[in-house]
Amino acid sequence: MEFQFIVAEPNFAPHIALIRLNRPKELNALNLQLMLELKHALAQFDEDDSVRCIIITGNEQAFAAGADIKQMESKNAIDLLKIDQFETWDQIRKTKKPIIAAVSGFALGGGCELAMTCDMIVASESAKFGQPEIKIGIMPGAGGTQRLTRAVGKALAMEMVLTGKFISAEEAMRAGLVNKVVPEEVYLDEAVKMAKEISLMSPISIRLAKESVLKAFDTGLQEGLYFERKNFYMCFASEDQKEGMKAFVEKRKPEFKGN
Ligand code: CAA
Repeated sequence: MEFQFIVAEPNFAPHIALIRLNRPKELNALNLQLMLELKHALAQFDEDDSVRCIIITGNEQAFAAGADIKQMESKNAIDLLKIDQFETWDQIRKTKKPIIAAVSGFALGGGCELAMTCDMIVASESAKFGQPEIKIGIMPGAGGTQRLTRAVGKALAMEMVLTGKFISAEEAMRAGLVNKVVPEEVYLDEAVKMAKEISLMSPISIRLAKESVLKAFDTGLQEGLYFERKNFYMCFASEDQKEGMKAFVEKRKPEFKGN
């Protein structure tokens, strides 16, 4: 697939792939084609054994200012039902490898939802997060009411969703929405640093661990613990587990191969 609205770099750094949302004039508004491209790129990287961690970013001014309002303006409910655009989002959520959102500038509406769909968020000091859909007569539709509430709690989520107010990177950090806030000049470097750390681990245990953490969002504690235990046992089917523990005993750094 030829990409028009994203730039996908499988070898951005060793074992790290980067996807840059690339509609700068529209503040990276997420039209249907962009989301389709994003889905394809993620599926490609998920299949590629050389990739161990994925970063999604925008530019300094905008991660993404939301779903494309101009594309949605004239649609009715049945059009949306037929297009079923959020099916694409479901696919993105199913990516097995860890995804870091490197966010600068606006992360609004679908942009905030996309960042929250990622596994971690590194924010620049200029990042602004918000769910302003209420101001245009709609409401969040790609997970905003659910993921934001789980991340920041009811009070702030309710305020953001009902008033459309933006929060700064610092506020997002205090509320537990983002992992790190760093100066704008280094937000991507910082995301790469985090990705590098992850890419040194066993890809198998990373995959199982990500799956287990996500399970906490849609299951009760007992079922989640059971799921975790199964995945923990599964790690012991890998060569990486042998290598990791042997390296510890031999007082050297492990070299994980993903087997
Ligand atoms: N969709 C389509 N185009 C958008 C857009 C969006 N979400 N956000 C910005 N743009 C376009 C603007 O129309 C403008 O294009 P033109 O130059 O052709 O007029 C260009 O990007 C630059 O934007 P502004 O001139 O508005 O820039 P600004 O700095 O004055 O304001 C902003 C920035 C506060 C982010 C403002 O653009 C804005 O409010 N954008 C919309 C935010 C929003 O409501 N997002 C939610 C969308 S709905 C959604 O996401 C549903 C969902 O859950 C999936």
